[in-house]
Amino acid sequence: MPGVPLFPPQASTIAGEVDALYFFLTAVAAFFSLLIAATIVFFAIRYRRRSNAERPPEIEGSLALELVWTIVPLILVTVMFVWGAQVFFHMNRPPDNSMHVSVVGKRWMWKLQHPTGQREINELHVPVGRPVELTITSEDTIHSFFIPAFRMKKDAVPGRYNTAWFQATKTGTYHLFCAEYCGTEHATMIGRVVVMEPDEYQTWLAGGPVSESPVKAGERLFVEMNCATCHRIDSPGRGPILHGIFGKPVKLVGGETVIADAAYLRESILNPAAKVAAGYQPVMPTYQGQVSEESLLSLIAYIQSLPAPVGGR
Ligand code: CUA
Repeated sequence: MPGVPLFPPQASTIAGEVDALYFFLTAVAAFFSLLIAATIVFFAIRYRRRSNAERPPEIEGSLALELVWTIVPLILVTVMFVWGAQVFFHMNRPPDNSMHVSVVGKRWMWKLQHPTGQREINELHVPVGRPVELTITSEDTIHSFFIPAFRMKKDAVPGRYNTAWFQATKTGTYHLFCAEYCGTEHATMIGRVVVMEPDEYQTWLAGGPVSESPVKAGERLFVEMNCATCHRIDSPGRGPILHGIFGKPVKLVGGETVIADAAYLRESILNPAAKVAAGYQPVMPTYQGQVSEESLLSLIAYIQSLPAPVGGR
């Protein structure tokens, strides 16, 4: 619905879908609100009591009426559910070819990092027509990463990784807001998203200061924090080898299985005793308080980048 006043521009692939559903829900709600209000007024006048002696006839019920007001709402809410679920799944399944950007909320700013290492604060530059997957977390309290023109909003929750994605369809500059009250400077926790042509984006990437990519930073931290002592491919088996484990199931001491996703790796760095891999002792020290959210994201990016060893191990 371009041109509707009070609505932000539609600048992502999902925006049209979200708006269509939103307008449908609003139209249904408005139609029935008006219908009920008008019926109340009409009945109040039409069936008002005209004298003290008036005794209206008794009503025994009506099967036809019961069926209508059961089946019509059932159809309407079923449409809402199925349609809503479709949009929900589309919004929550980042395409496989997405470019990965990490987002860390902090009172009162957004810290973002590109896969090539460039860091930004309260600004995000992205190429048009390319899906961008965001891993969103917070260093302190709950924030919410909101880009109205993309119809995309996701909470940044401390201790948790939330995923969101968008694909911008139009170049331009769009608002970025924090949509969760997070303290006195909440209202200033705003920024902008700059959508550029792919070649302009490449120029922009090349123009910034050269920074370490998350994978490179993770590799450095892996050595600095002595992870390599136990987890290197030639280490003497004190800790699990991390090559090729990302996204794969891990068998735990207790017998259950978890997927080695970003959340599991994060937990295993901060609270190693929580879910120990089968065949290992809970000897790893905790890194709680010693590693920043950005370093954690780098370590995870590094582990994700490790190829599975040839021949398997
Ligand atoms: Cu961060 Cu509101």
